[in-house]
Amino acid sequence: MELALLGGAPVRTEPFPSWPVYGRREEQSLLSVLESGSWGGYNKKVEEFETAFAALHQVRYGVSCANGTVALEVAQRCLGIRCGDEVIVPAITFVATASTVLLCHAAPVFVDIDPVTLNISPSAVEAAVTPRTKAIIAVHFGGQPADMDALQAVARRHRLALIEDAAHAHGASWRGAPVGQFGDAATFSFQMFKLVTSGEGGILLTDSEALAEKAWAYCNHGRRKDAGWYEHFALGTNYRLTGFQAAVLIAQLDELAAQSATRRANVAHLRKLLSSFQGLRLEPDDPRVTANPCYLIMLRYDPAEFGGLDRALFLQALQAEGVPARPTYPFPLYRNPLFRAANLASRLCSEWRAPQDYASLNLPESERVCRDGIWLEQNLFLGTTRDVEDIVAACEKIQKLAARLTVAHPAGESAKIK
Ligand SMILES: Cc1ncc(COP(=O)(O)O)c(C=O)c1O
Repeated sequence: MELALLGGAPVRTEPFPSWPVYGRREEQSLLSVLESGSWGGYNKKVEEFETAFAALHQVRYGVSCANGTVALEVAQRCLGIRCGDEVIVPAITFVATASTVLLCHAAPVFVDIDPVTLNISPSAVEAAVTPRTKAIIAVHFGGQPADMDALQAVARRHRLALIEDAAHAHGASWRGAPVGQFGDAATFSFQMFKLVTSGEGGILLTDSEALAEKAWAYCNHGRRKDAGWYEHFALGTNYRLTGFQAAVLIAQLDELAAQSATRRANVAHLRKLLSSFQGLRLEPDDPRVTANPCYLIMLRYDPAEFGGLDRALFLQALQAEGVPARPTYPFPLYRNPLFRAANLASRLCSEWRAPQDYASLNLPESERVCRDGIWLEQNLFLGTTRDVEDIVAACEKIQKLAARLTVAHPAGESAKIK
């Protein structure tokens, strides 16, 4: 037996299920918009989708928009976040969670993640509150809800707005209640890798009628639903979703529950198989998470159990065996050049102050997960238990033969194998 990276036969040659998936439902729904002649954001399918998506999450109002980034920006603008404010965000998230704070001319305050849930740490949030703090953005990372009990309590105690960034968490639930209803507003993304997708797209959910009206107006040039096309009551822009996108989303939504159930069953199988495997760890399930749609599965890699094989080389070997696993973010979000205070101060507003020296931040759990984390994407779990067994078989094979890589390619030399 030889490692595929060194010329041997791979564990798996069959591709994993692809994403996105679609069928007759998407085709027919798209065709109906095409034939309606009303292709834009005022097609009735847009409202139909907003209503269905809000109902699925047991929230009263849904305001669709162009993408998840815009949804975060609209949520903050409409909650009154502005220059001089601080918004607390996790250090492990996609850039949009924090860049939208800047787009509102406020300052993101990065806090560490919890080492087990890998979501924003409520105690770190509490410690980061200052008189300037106006909001917390909780990301349900990878589909796993953040600790909404603790975050709601912090928000209440300090009178802060709470926004759920649920870009990864369509249909997730916390203590039996769908995400989207725990804060003042929640935002979702329908970008093409997401669990419900129209290529691009987003939505803001809220139980507040006033916030929903403001958000809708902002996305529609300051119009009111009961007034004319050329009547504008507030500053706004055009952030609309199109009829075509809504048509696809309505069809996609029908599949979400079944796809999530398949992913959950396969991830449970992975958990069982990894329970006796040293060197790759899935953090324990949080019993308060009653539904995780499994957008990203994060494994913790321990090189010591692989004869010192570094993560990059392990991942190269795993990919060669036919398993498309990826490293986590290369570094916590605060280390991106975007957040260097010197790059920001002159571009935002006169009252803007960096609340942290972003460049020298060092949040230990966030740093650790960037060093030892491995992502398995949701489509790997849309097939059968055999797929999961192949993933584990590939890891076992590499573990058994790791010495061949570490001898031939000492740590740090991984770039030489391409
Ligand atoms: C956590 C998180 N928030 C927000 C977004 C932004 O969504 P979009 O790509 O639809 O703008 C993403 C996108 O990947 C994300 O991962």
